[in-house]
Amino acid sequence: MSYQNILTSTSDGITTITINRPNKLNALNKATIQELHEALSEANDDSDTKVIILTGSGEKAFVAGADISEFADFDVENGGKLAAKGQELLFDFVEHLSTPVIAAVNGFALGGGLELAMSCHFRLASDNARMGLPEVSLGVIPGYGGTQRLPQLIGKGRAMEMVMTAGMIDANQALSYGLVNHVTSQDELLALAEKIASKIMRNSSVAIKGAIKAINANYTDGINGYEIEIDQFGKCFGTEDFKEGTSAFLEKRRADFPGK
Ligand code: COA
Repeated sequence: MSYQNILTSTSDGITTITINRPNKLNALNKATIQELHEALSEANDDSDTKVIILTGSGEKAFVAGADISEFADFDVENGGKLAAKGQELLFDFVEHLSTPVIAAVNGFALGGGLELAMSCHFRLASDNARMGLPEVSLGVIPGYGGTQRLPQLIGKGRAMEMVMTAGMIDANQALSYGLVNHVTSQDELLALAEKIASKIMRNSSVAIKGAIKAINANYTDGINGYEIEIDQFGKCFGTEDFKEGTSAFLEKRRADFPGK
């Protein structure tokens, strides 16, 4: 499929999706959100894709937020719809994909940009990256899950301070907060993401899918994560991957998982 606002490429089991509006610091307009939904959906259903890497084009930004020019004249009803539609199409959607999604944060990740990175399963950053939720400086609050995922990832007090001050933190502070797992130079960011992806790909994709479901259950209201874990754990015993993984261990060889 061809896209206007994003680039996609697949090789060696990795689909890289690059948000490509560098002149607007990759700000998320409606069309980009829709394209990301389609590309992520396609990659998640593609048997050749074992890991998805999400990044931004250019040297300056991952994503500098939702596109402010698109919602500046919205009323209460349209504001609510904007958040609901975005969360459904992109932010909740990414979090619940069964294929691992790594955010490679290559510069500014602000507002919707940080919210998108936080929706990914985990994050790496380049050392020039700067992250924040500046919405209150525009008279709104984060509307793409930021008020929920930021405290989950860094704790309530730090999230309150970041949101209230509308300030930015640098990559090393994000690392010390646990908001990103690794920091590297911009030149090496994608290579690091690919190296981690290749470690993931050695393991059972079916088991990883179950693990994502169980971990996400911990953050879903009204669901008992321990019960989801028990259910997913039990299901693993009916998979070919389980037979291969345990046989390979007992035969002292490396597992070659069929992914079923
Ligand atoms: N929405 C729409 N356009 C955006 C944008 C956004 N969130 N962020 C940046 N842009 C556009 C700018 O309007 C500018 O476009 P122009 O050249 O047509 O005027 C272009 O991207 C470059 O941005 P600019 O502000 O000139 O770059 P800078 O280096 O001076 O500043 C930032 C970088 C990230 C500090 C600044 O762009 C910024 O504060 N962006 C908004 C961040 C934000 O509040 N995000 C949350 C939105 S809810």
